[in-house]
Amino acid sequence: MSPPSPFYIRPAELRDLPRITAVCLAGLPDDPTFDFLWNHRHEYPDDCYFFWLQSFKADLYNPRKTFLVATEESFPINGCITTVENWSISKAYVRRDGDLARRVAFGKTMGYVKSKYWEQTYPENYHLILLTTHPDYRRRGAATALSKWGIDQGRRAGIAIGVEASPMGFPLYQHLGFVLQEELTVECRSGENTATLPVKVMVYDKGTERLPNGTQIHSEVDTSLCTHAGISTDTNQRKRKKKKKEKG
Ligand SMILES: CC(C)(COP(=O)(O)OP(=O)(O)OC[C@H]1O[C@@H](n2cnc3c(N)ncnc32)[C@H](O)[C@@H]1OP(=O)(O)O)[C@@H](O)C(=O)NCCC(=O)NCCS
Repeated sequence: MSPPSPFYIRPAELRDLPRITAVCLAGLPDDPTFDFLWNHRHEYPDDCYFFWLQSFKADLYNPRKTFLVATEESFPINGCITTVENWSISKAYVRRDGDLARRVAFGKTMGYVKSKYWEQTYPENYHLILLTTHPDYRRRGAATALSKWGIDQGRRAGIAIGVEASPMGFPLYQHLGFVLQEELTVECRSGENTATLPVKVMVYDKGTERLPNGTQIHSEVDTSLCTHAGISTDTNQRKRKKKKKEKG
C-alpha cells in the first residue's frame, strides 16, 4: 500500500483565491495549452492574473464544479471581521493576454471532444478540468491525492471519468488508471499566427464499475466537506428532462 499523502486536501474557499491563482500561474505554463492560449501574458500580466482570478471565483460558486486544494498545513479560519463593504462596478474589460484565433481553434477541437466523449459516448461523467501543482512541490503525491477524489466519486456513482491530458499530465493519469482514447492536434493557421497544440483524451478504465455507497477506495479527502460537489451530468440530465418534457 502506498504511504498516506503528506498533504491536507479540502474544498477551496474564497480566501484561497489569490493563492490558487498564484499556484496556477506558476504551474500551468508547463502545460503547453497555457502558452498556446495566453501567448501575450508576458506583455499583459495584470490581465492574465485578473481574468484567471475571476474565472476561479466563478468556478468556486458554480454548483456543478468542485474545486479542491492540497495544503501543507491544516489551518483554521482566524480573525474577527469588523467591517464589510460591497460595491457593484460596471466596466467593460478587454482581455489582452490571449489570442482570439488560437482560442477559436482550441474551442473548435474541445467542442468536438465534448460532443463525442462527454455528451455522446459518456453522457454521464466526472470531468477533470484543471490540475496543477506549484513547481516547488512536485513529485510528492499532491496531484495524485487530489485526482483520487474525483476518481472515487465517479466510481461510486458508476459513471465515466475523463480528462484531456497535457504532456506532463499524461504519465500521471496513466499511473492512476486512465487510458488514452484519442490524440488530437489543435491547429491555428491565421496569417503569421501559426501554432499547434497536442490534446490527449483519456478515460479511467474502471470508471463505469459501480461501487457500493460508502466504499473507501483510496481517497483521503473528507468528501462531506465538499459542499460544492457536483457533476457535469446535471446539465445532461436537465437537457434530457427538458427534451422529454418537450416531447410531452
Ligand atoms: C502534472 C502535475 C499536475 C503533476 O503534479 P505532481 O503533484 O507533481 O504529481 P504527483 O506527485 O502526484 O505524481 C504522481 C505520479 O505521476 C507521474 N508523474 C507526475 N509528473 C510526472 C512527470 N513530469 N514526468 C513523468 N511522470 C510524472 C509519476 O508516476 C508520479 O509518481 P512518482 O513521482 O512516484 O514517479 C504537475 O507536473 C503540473 O502541474 N504540470 C503542469 C500543468 C499540467 O500539465 N497539468 C496537467 C493538465 S492535464
